[in-house]
Amino acid sequence: MSNETIAKLNSLVADFTVFYQKLRHYHWNVKGEQFFTLHIKFEEMYTGVGDTIDALAERIVGLGGTPLHTLGHMLDETSLHEDPEVPAAAQMVARTAADLETITNNVRAALAVAEAAGDRTTVNLLDGINDGLEAHLWMLKAWQR
Ligand SMILES: [Fe+2]
Repeated sequence: MSNETIAKLNSLVADFTVFYQKLRHYHWNVKGEQFFTLHIKFEEMYTGVGDTIDALAERIVGLGGTPLHTLGHMLDETSLHEDPEVPAAAQMVARTAADLETITNNVRAALAVAEAAGDRTTVNLLDGINDGLEAHLWMLKAWQR
């Protein structure tokens, strides 16, 4: 059912939009010895996330849906929480890793729906997104040791 796929993709648009803003926050506000590493890493991640949001939204349009487009609706739909604090660098990495795990679970749930619908285009899109998330996750875990 394409409506169910559209709903799952829209919740991912919401997750990635909140994640994008958190990564920008961490990019701007990270401090300490790891500044140069993390400032660059967070930028690399939010740049990729921006492309992911665009690909998800355009797939929703392709399926005949309307992508979420207000921040209010994104906040209603997301499983993530905004970060009003300015945490220490290690906490930024830990919170980013936790968000990656949440998003990965939601991508897998969306994959299951697209697979059940036989929607190969969406499955391929989500598989690619999942690969990127997993790569970021192991790198952040390696940084944490
Ligand atoms: Fe910057």
